Order: sequence, then C-alpha cells, then structure tokens
Amino acid sequence: MQVNGQAYRSIWLAADGVGVEIIDQTQLPFRFQVVRLERLEDAMEAIRRMLVRGAPLIGATAAYGMCLGVRRATSAQALEEMAHLLIGCRPTAINLRWAVERMVRYLLSLPEEQRLAAAYREAGRICEEDVAANEAIGRHGLTLIRERWRAKPSGEPVHILTHCNGGWLATVDWGTALAPVYAAAAAGIPVHVWVDETRPRNQGASLTAWELAVAGIPHHLLVDNAGGHLMQHGLVDLCIVGSDRTTASGDVCNKIGTYLKALAARDNGVPFYVALPGSTVDWTMDDGVAGIPIEERGMEEVLRIQGEDENGTVRMVAIAPAGTPAVNPAFDVTPARLVSGLITELGLCPASRDGLLGLYPEQGR
Ligand code: MRU
Repeated sequence: MQVNGQAYRSIWLAADGVGVEIIDQTQLPFRFQVVRLERLEDAMEAIRRMLVRGAPLIGATAAYGMCLGVRRATSAQALEEMAHLLIGCRPTAINLRWAVERMVRYLLSLPEEQRLAAAYREAGRICEEDVAANEAIGRHGLTLIRERWRAKPSGEPVHILTHCNGGWLATVDWGTALAPVYAAAAAGIPVHVWVDETRPRNQGASLTAWELAVAGIPHHLLVDNAGGHLMQHGLVDLCIVGSDRTTASGDVCNKIGTYLKALAARDNGVPFYVALPGSTVDWTMDDGVAGIPIEERGMEEVLRIQGEDENGTVRMVAIAPAGTPAVNPAFDVTPARLVSGLITELGLCPASRDGLLGLYPEQGR
C-alpha cells in the first residue's frame, strides 16, 4: 500500500538481505516509524509488544524470526527451541503456529548447511502467499459489496462496519476484512466504513482509521457501543471482520467485541461476513468457544489509554481510579451460526465444516 507516495508492505527483508524491517504499529497513527529486527529475540519482542499484530502478520514475522534464529544455529534441536519460543509469544492467532511449523518442517527436510538460505526463501514465500491470498479475498469480497451496491438507490455508498484492524497492517499487504473495501474502491463502487474504535488497544482508531485516511476511503470512527444503534437505524449494509482463528466447523475467533457485533447484526438482519486466508483455519478444532485459547492481557491496557496531547507528545493517561481491578480478554468467539459466510482466497463459503471442506477438500482426507 502507498504511504506518502511510497509503496510499503508491513514487513520486508532489509536491503542487506539479513535484517527484517517492520512498521512499529504501537506508534501509529502519530509516528510512522520503521524498526529493524536483527535477532530472533527482536522478532519475539515485536510480536509480544505488538509492534506487529494481526494474525497473518504475526505469522510472517515469526517466519522471519526463524530466519534470524537460524543465523545463529541450524540443528534440529535449535529449530525446535526457536519454534517453541516463537509460538509462545501470543496464544490465539493460529497463523503464528502455522507459519512456524511450516518453517520447521521444511528446514528439517534439508541438510543443515542449506537451512539458512532456505529459511529466508521460505519466509519470503509465506509473505508472497499471504499477499496473493489477501488480494484474492478482496476480489471475492468485492462481489458481495457489488451486490449490496446494486440493491441500493443509485449513487448511495455501501456502508460497511468493521471491528479492530483487518487492513494491510494486519497482514503482509491488502488485509483481510479491508481487502474487499480496497477492491471496491478501486472498482469505483462508493464505500463508506464504520470503524469500531476497538478498546482496549484501539486498533480501529489508531490503525484502521489511519489506513483508510491514507487510502482516501470515506469512514467514520465510532465508539464500540455504537454499532448496534447504527444497525437498528438501517445505517449498516454489511459487517466484515477478520479472524485470528477459525475452527473447522466455522466458529470465528477475533478481537474482543466481535461477538457482540455479530449478535447485533443477527438481530437486525445485517449480513455478517468474516474474511480470512486458509492459514487462519485451525483444522484440529471444532468448538471454538470451548477450545480456542483466549489471550489474557495486562490490566493496564484497560485502565490506561494512549493518545497525543496538544504539544504533540504521545503519552499514556489513566482513565479509572488508581487500584481499580480490571480484566482484559483480548479475543472472543463468534459461533458459526451467527456468521453469514466466510470470504477466503478460494471464494465464499458457509461458516460450516461442509462449507470449508468444499473449498479445502484436502483437509477432509
Ligand atoms: O491483537 P491484535 O491486534 O493482533 O488482533 C488482531 C485482530 O483481532 C484482527 O482482527 C485479526 O488478526 C484478523 S485481521 C487479519
């Protein structure tokens, strides 16, 4: 995607072919800052502290994290240790485990002396595949948006509500939930996005609103509690969100608050779609509510909020009395029955085992 006239991805190999560069997403929307990762530990820290976030981007960063680790050690035992450390950085997004296990499987199939060069090649392939998958998600999601647009009075935009950030910053490029929005805008279909702020870390306010502004796509930011009201008043045509892990039966885990939007959408007859690449499906799991590990994050994310003051200083401020106890589950699970359909790189399908197997038949064998 373009930022200030320059094409960016959210992660790339540095010019020296060794280090890896990322955009520090904790600094957005206030500062656009590129950070270089040199060591496995840098990649782990970037994932843990959420300089990078979003399921596919976490996977891509972990793949490059393996490369950085392989610069130091290439034995099978070292690979297993690195994989264990990386997978432990964040528990919910399945793409992390998917990418790391893919890297380990591939590297173990090769003689040790070939592993370093092969690691960089494979991490590069993971990134390219993610970009291609998200672009295809955009094309498939565009058909849904076009349908809604044709059903509207001429000239009116399609109003799409999204939660958290499923834009290019959450992936290597294009995004998941926002890929169809970008595709629609490029196709000349007028779109307008309702952006949930997405407490506690405000990925909607700081990342989605920034992305859409940079891309010139009309949008409004709203507090998390406003979506149901907008839906009741016919102001939302379509919800599209991303996913951190989708089970084989179509249950969808995404940023905390997604489930409440799905409930409101169902009550108001608003279609609720989830956009995800195949790498986000956990084929080993059926019941998402019972099975998906939900990341519990620190209380400070609930009790404090980051913003920029009138002097341009970015600071954290308290929003509750000192000593207030808080809970901070980072994700929730929307049961498949509340999901109108899944938008994948292979096309649209019902949120069900049969629906998913129709697109990915090899997973049924
Ligand atoms: O905690 P985050 O910012 O990593 O959570 C990200 C989300 O929940 C996204 O909506 C999700 O990764 C799907 S979009 C790729």
